[in-house]
Amino acid sequence: MTAQRFLTGITTSGEPHLGNYVGAIRPAIAASLRPQVESFYFLADYHALIKIDDPARIQRSTLEIAASFLAAGLDPQRVTFYRQSDIAEVAELTWLLTCVTSKGLLNRAHAYKAAVDKNVAAGMDPDADVNAGLFMYPVLMTADILMFNAHKVPVGRDQVQHVEMARDIAQRFNHLYGEHFVLPQALIEESVATLPGLDGRKMSKSYDNSIPLFAPRAQLQKLIAGIVTDSRAPGQAKDTEGSALYQIYQAFASGAETSELAQAYADGISWADAKQLLFERIDREIAPMRELYQALIDDPQRIETILLEGAAKARSLSAPFVTRLRHAVGLRRLSGAADRAEQAKPAKAQPPAFKQYRERDGKFYFKLVQARGGVLLQSTGFDSPKEAAQAISALLDRGGAALAELAGKLTLAGDASEADIAQALQLLAKPIL
Ligand code: TRP
Repeated sequence: MTAQRFLTGITTSGEPHLGNYVGAIRPAIAASLRPQVESFYFLADYHALIKIDDPARIQRSTLEIAASFLAAGLDPQRVTFYRQSDIAEVAELTWLLTCVTSKGLLNRAHAYKAAVDKNVAAGMDPDADVNAGLFMYPVLMTADILMFNAHKVPVGRDQVQHVEMARDIAQRFNHLYGEHFVLPQALIEESVATLPGLDGRKMSKSYDNSIPLFAPRAQLQKLIAGIVTDSRAPGQAKDTEGSALYQIYQAFASGAETSELAQAYADGISWADAKQLLFERIDREIAPMRELYQALIDDPQRIETILLEGAAKARSLSAPFVTRLRHAVGLRRLSGAADRAEQAKPAKAQPPAFKQYRERDGKFYFKLVQARGGVLLQSTGFDSPKEAAQAISALLDRGGAALAELAGKLTLAGDASEADIAQALQLLAKPIL
């Protein structure tokens, strides 16, 4: 079995909260420890620009999210951990992909549609306050994924459509330019329910209902005390169904611990006591990481170094890959263009090939054969395979010009002309990158 590549990004738009930890950071670290998994995790700071115009906040959030991953146990040696904007090829790939993406596909993206629907409902211009970054968001995300040919993309439900779009766009590109991209699949961790926030809605920065992952103990306790509950008095049985407190507890506790809390609910535990249990359970998991988190935040250069090392690892893949993609779409050096324009016409001509073999006379021969089988060129016998290989190299390097140099060593087969052979050699020449 070959390794499966997992890739996911976290937008650097705020302070990481418990929901990010449970929904993304913790499962990402667990996945990275599995055998046969190659993980790519990155800080999606280009994406953050779509909604944030506060440069200091982008920088701060990048620092905090990176520190959170590292404090929670991510091993940067084991995974490729990088900052999106350090990979300039991502921006370049975004453009190549933009040009094969239909605008209609982007019109149907949920996030863009929601913005339009809201405007229309308010009687405004459909695109009021919508920046083109929001519209293009799925293409940037596609570039993130396709750049490293990820097989699996662990995401929340709200991002599944984007991964499907990445698949569509990859398919379109492959169809036009050849098989360059793996078709990625979204991976939704069914066991990881979205964590509710203080008010019971999904924990999210935009609802202002989140609990910062590394809030100091006292603040954590205070925030937990503010989780919505109902008005049932101590001694009255409580419902686990729809209880945000219970759901958050479940995300941190074992099955047995969760059953105990369910029993305590039935037995009428007071909300104050239930909150204390939740606080202690979360703190037990987070406290050991808090110190490392603080040490990392206080030493940004250490994180910077780790991210730059990650970027170097990532770019050792992305740089050559983009070179190949540039060539595929026609962003090419001009040398050789005139000859190439000629042969470009018969679409996708199969290249001829050199065949080497040894005859009963003990000598080493080669011939140049066309894809459909006809022989173009036949060598005489060479004393060693090395000499035969040198002659082939001369033909590959210098094309038709080498024919004269090798006169006496080669015979043109049947009705092949020197021009036919020169053209065949041109097809075999290495692509100009
Ligand atoms: N859009 C994702 C989010 O908001 C973040 C992201 C950016 C991402 N690029 C990605 C996730 C590529 C997975 C793969 O959560």
